[in-house]
Amino acid sequence: MYTGLQHLHSYMGYLVLLGLLISLGAALVGLSGNRTFTDKDRKLGLFGLIATHLQVVIGIILYLVSPLGLSNASGAAIKDATSRLYFLEHPLMMVLAVILITVGYSKAKRQIGTNRGFKTIAIFYGLGLILVLSRIPWNAWLD
Ligand code: HEM
Repeated sequence: MYTGLQHLHSYMGYLVLLGLLISLGAALVGLSGNRTFTDKDRKLGLFGLIATHLQVVIGIILYLVSPLGLSNASGAAIKDATSRLYFLEHPLMMVLAVILITVGYSKAKRQIGTNRGFKTIAIFYGLGLILVLSRIPWNAWLD
């Protein structure tokens, strides 16, 4: 089960980046066109939202079974940069990123018919993407 989840979480990482880039790209295009935010534009925000939500659920289960997750949490592990990344920084930042993305989507949903939805998605998803990029274990992932 551990290896399966590890692979799923690893492949889903690409889907998360793709989903966020699609949602963010669409918002930036809409923003530069200065048009009204429509329900179709809201749906483009779902790419990033759904991919990140799925990934967090898989991540939480993985956290419970991985030797790098909860079972590795200790005072000593905090002093080691790699251990700290996996048991503390990565989960915390990813959850924060998803909260930002969820708040952004919820706000934008209420801005249909105005021209503000694009800016909301661009800011919240943009910040979320920065957090995600900052705490991906790049070396292990691209190995
Ligand atoms: C948007 C959210 C997230 C993204 C994009 C993401 C991405 C990744 C990536 C790319 C890896 C490296 C995979 C590899 O070695 O090939 C990884 C590992 C890991 N992630 Fe996440 N993650 C996210 C959320 C979470 C959350 C919320 C948790 C826990 C609560 C979590 C727990 C872990 C753990 C424990 C590992 C190490 C697994 C192992 O090799 O044993 N992730 N994550």
